[in-house]
Amino acid sequence: MSEDFAPNRTPLEERLVDLIRLKGPITVADYMADALGHPNDGYYMSRTPFGAKGDFTTAPEISQIFGELIGLWLLENWRALGSPADFNLVEFGPGRGVLMEDILRATRLRSEFSKAACLWLLETSGRLRVEQQKRLRASGIKPLWADEFADIPPAPTLIVANEFFDCLPVRQFQRIERGWRERMVDIGDNGGLAFCLGKTPPPADYKLPSDDDSEPGDIFEINFAARDFLSDVVAGLLTHGGAALIIDYGHAASGLGDTLQAVREHRFWPALSTPGQADLTAHVDFGALADIAVDAGAAVYGPTAQGRFLDRLGLALRTEMLCKGKSDEDQKKIRDGSERIAAPNKMGEIFKVMCITSPDLPAPPGFFDL
Ligand SMILES: C[S@@+](CC[C@H](N)C(=O)[O-])C[C@H]1O[C@@H](n2cnc3c(N)ncnc32)[C@H](O)[C@@H]1O
Repeated sequence: MSEDFAPNRTPLEERLVDLIRLKGPITVADYMADALGHPNDGYYMSRTPFGAKGDFTTAPEISQIFGELIGLWLLENWRALGSPADFNLVEFGPGRGVLMEDILRATRLRSEFSKAACLWLLETSGRLRVEQQKRLRASGIKPLWADEFADIPPAPTLIVANEFFDCLPVRQFQRIERGWRERMVDIGDNGGLAFCLGKTPPPADYKLPSDDDSEPGDIFEINFAARDFLSDVVAGLLTHGGAALIIDYGHAASGLGDTLQAVREHRFWPALSTPGQADLTAHVDFGALADIAVDAGAAVYGPTAQGRFLDRLGLALRTEMLCKGKSDEDQKKIRDGSERIAAPNKMGEIFKVMCITSPDLPAPPGFFDL
């Protein structure tokens, strides 16, 4: 319907075209899951996406202060948990391991924390697991890797997830005159992938916006994968105690809009073009995730803007400390990095931070003014 591409196909596109010929159109979520996570040709399996030579850059890749402040945040929450002698320190989607490297350096201030932490990394990509292992070797804590959250043994748990939930596959629904239809991926007239609409209405319990709250052409997204994943995480936090810090770009309340977005070499890219060779994300619906946590009995803080969260944790002070004794050029780099991750017109506003805790924990730092 809306996007068609010449049949100069990537290996993954070939497979998807064969699959669609055989079985019919697939959901946007199935497309996204394969484009990112196909064991051979998925984006995270076959490419190193980070940095100037890659496709995008994340906050920890820009400034070490991001991970250091989160490390201090984790120390506070560990203390609030009663300083357990054994706990799980978990990162979802650790990328090149840069965030965890900075966290481990900052938390070394309290050797009891480092001794008590069992480090778990939830990562699908074999390539990135190798990078994580190399980078974290010097930290003195040996990581363990998990494919699923359920693989992590029960214990009090502190979790960090930066730009992880936006990778989870989203389903899309489009309003037409007669109600809602699921947006699917089919083969277009020129043999490339193209969007189409499912023929039957989605189940009523999907709770899509009413006719009064939407109009033909509107798109509504539901991330069942993120919801199911978070339900398991919250169940774990409620049983064993702990906190999860979720940082991502997204919206505070569920709403209409097509947020499926591909990025290649730091530029926006058509979502159905070159699957497996471009990053593909969807905005995180923080409102839907918060509802799941609150309904289950957990405490939820935020979402708050990333810039405000970092300011409250002491970004300005840490920036000045790090600048001490450095050359003018290095000082500029440090200050520019802090500005990039926190300024409202850069990453500070669009990126949001939400924390979910077991209900017995006090409000975590970063979610209130001192
Ligand atoms: C955008 S990167 C974020 C990297 C890192 N957190 C950072 O801030 O630099 C997404 C990470 O999540 C991983 N990932 C994506 N989908 C995943 C899944 N379903 N399960 C586990 N890891 C996944 C990717 O391989 C990658 O490490």
